[in-house]
Amino acid sequence: MNVRDRGNRERRLLLHLLLRSVLSVHLATALLGCAVANQQTRPANSIASPRPSVSSETNERSTDRIDRQTTNPYSGSLSIFEDPKRADRLQVDRVMDVLGIKPGSSVADVGAGSGWFTVKAAKRVGSGGLVYAVEINIEYLKHIAKRAREENLSNVRTILGKEDDPLLPEKGVDAVLLLKTYHEIGEPVRWLRRMRSSMREGALLGIIDRTGKGDDHGIDRETVVKEAQRGGFMLVEQHDFVRPDEVDYFLVFRAR
Ligand SMILES: C[S@@+](CC[C@H](N)C(=O)[O-])C[C@H]1O[C@@H](n2cnc3c(N)ncnc32)[C@H](O)[C@@H]1O
Repeated sequence: MNVRDRGNRERRLLLHLLLRSVLSVHLATALLGCAVANQQTRPANSIASPRPSVSSETNERSTDRIDRQTTNPYSGSLSIFEDPKRADRLQVDRVMDVLGIKPGSSVADVGAGSGWFTVKAAKRVGSGGLVYAVEINIEYLKHIAKRAREENLSNVRTILGKEDDPLLPEKGVDAVLLLKTYHEIGEPVRWLRRMRSSMREGALLGIIDRTGKGDDHGIDRETVVKEAQRGGFMLVEQHDFVRPDEVDYFLVFRAR
């Protein structure tokens, strides 16, 4: 090989190397560009899971939503519900008469708190009846179970309900009382709908509450009546004897 041939060969080799490095840079840029493009088209918080399908429950939730505030569920000392004068002031025996609570009845005390009303109802319905103490606060339910044992009340059942569902047995109750609880229920229309399916033929739902705006430990009676209608109930009676100050009221509903 002469000097000219060697020079040509070296130039070809150099050209080949140059071409290869240019191609590599192009390829790398193309791949990097693809990755960057992928990152840019997927939002930072995107989750690679499918959208939940729209269930009938979701539909129910959207139509039953309320446009008002509610009060945070009470979680303090239970002693405030045990004022010895409370039974007289509230006329609790008259409340039970209005709700048709008698020996053998099956009753629900929803938002039972200390079990103040649960115990009164359990004594009235006797061994042939049942009282469901429904709460979302498990500590209160433990307190009620202990109280029932200590008072030899074998007809008390505790139920850990949900905010929007009392989880009572289907067609299981003759009477229900929400005593100073309705304003705390987060999803009252949904709750009422579920409650309705647990009411026996002719069963009554009593709501005792105080006038308020929803987030101030009370709720206007007009709002309760409207929500109860949406939840499948109609107002059949209303009383003011539970506290003669025109602030507290007692509404009685029947399933429509
Ligand atoms: C203000 S206290 C009244 C207690 C009792 N009824 C009384 O007057 O003695 C309201 C109670 O309702 C309960 N509560 C709130 N929302 C509830 C719901 N959706 N279902 C069941 N209990 C509920 C709270 O945990 C609280 O113990």
